[in-house]
Amino acid sequence: MSLPLLFTPTTLRSVTLPNRIVLSPLCMYSAKDGLANAFHLSHLTAFARGRVGLVFTEATAVAPEGRISHGCCGLWNDAQADAYRPVVEAIEAMGAVPAIQIAHAGRKASAHPPWEGGLPLAASDAADGQAPWRTVAPSAIPVGEGWPEPRAMTEQDIAGMVQKFADATRRAAAAGFKVLEIHGAHGYLIQSFLSPLANQRNDAYGGDLAGRMRFALEVAKAVRAAWPQDLPLFFRISAVDGRPGGWELDDSVVLARELKALGVDVIDCSAGGILGAPAFRAGDDGKPLRTGGERPPGFQVPYAERVRRDADVATMAVGVITTGPQAEDILQTGKADLIAIGRELMYNPFWPLHAAEALGCDADRKMWPSNYGWAIRRRTDIRAANAAE
Ligand SMILES: Cc1cc2nc3c(=O)[nH]c(=O)nc-3n(C[C@H](O)[C@H](O)[C@H](O)COP(=O)(O)O)c2cc1C
Repeated sequence: MSLPLLFTPTTLRSVTLPNRIVLSPLCMYSAKDGLANAFHLSHLTAFARGRVGLVFTEATAVAPEGRISHGCCGLWNDAQADAYRPVVEAIEAMGAVPAIQIAHAGRKASAHPPWEGGLPLAASDAADGQAPWRTVAPSAIPVGEGWPEPRAMTEQDIAGMVQKFADATRRAAAAGFKVLEIHGAHGYLIQSFLSPLANQRNDAYGGDLAGRMRFALEVAKAVRAAWPQDLPLFFRISAVDGRPGGWELDDSVVLARELKALGVDVIDCSAGGILGAPAFRAGDDGKPLRTGGERPPGFQVPYAERVRRDADVATMAVGVITTGPQAEDILQTGKADLIAIGRELMYNPFWPLHAAEALGCDADRKMWPSNYGWAIRRRTDIRAANAAE
């Protein structure tokens, strides 16, 4: 039997991924001063041990005010790159490829972690060491009710921000990461420039599609120049805002073509986040309809499929992909090149090995790390014997 595509290695530039399973970036809100620590080491190596091929860090801020919360990792100084190095080494030692997502949270920064409600920090939070800070955005438009008004960035701020993305990229390379992703999704800074719902500038960085894409493309260009040529670059998009008058899938195809021309290798197709919970179901008039956050299996896969086909670029699918056969079908039908998984891997870091079992390609547990595999084989034998009694 031939190996399922999910477990077939693939090469991007000089980097060979051992399989097509990717840990999607997952904010843990557990750093201090932006430094990765023992928690991040144990968290991320769990997935490498579970045979995820490409392990992404959480969204890592290029500037202190670009963190979502005080607990987010950063890469605005060299100490933060040093703190990531043991994480990188441990991921690689387990046979996976270490990847980093770099980000700026824009007007969604200065917030509580989700388990504290995710609301913006208030002056009173300073007493708990969580002082709020002034956020920045393309325009002085709050994310929603109850959110503070961000400061609209000047053209000088924008040039400085592009430089911060480039500087963080150099630090990521120095830390040893082999794949880098620019976070251009979920309503954070880059997407807020893309979306007409958040960008109402009337200079070169706003207005028509070309103007709204300018910042994203300048970041991609600067990051590509700072990132080693032999290493792959990913870009995460929100393929649709899911709101009337917002960013549409056609816009994503145009953006993906431009990103590919700048040397982006993979478009990671997420969605939503510009104003809050995303919406994906078409209404009677064909326009996106707010659904209250319905998320059927593989609900974002059509975005990866369309971008892959019409922009002729490799894509990563993400969003409620929960079983090996589902993931394999996405790859076999040419809808995406890589499968990113978030919550299912948090629930079960050994998901890849269970997916291999479901796809019938690891009956002898050879995919397991050898120090586990022999014992898991014994477990299987004992269970079979007990069941036969
Ligand atoms: C705890 C948590 C943290 C997340 N943090 C990030 C992040 O740092 N960057 C990002 O692009 N997406 C982030 N996401 C979104 C995930 O990467 C992923 O796109 C989403 O969870 C859908 O995939 P899933 O259904 O497999 O979980 C996060 C999601 C969760 C649940």
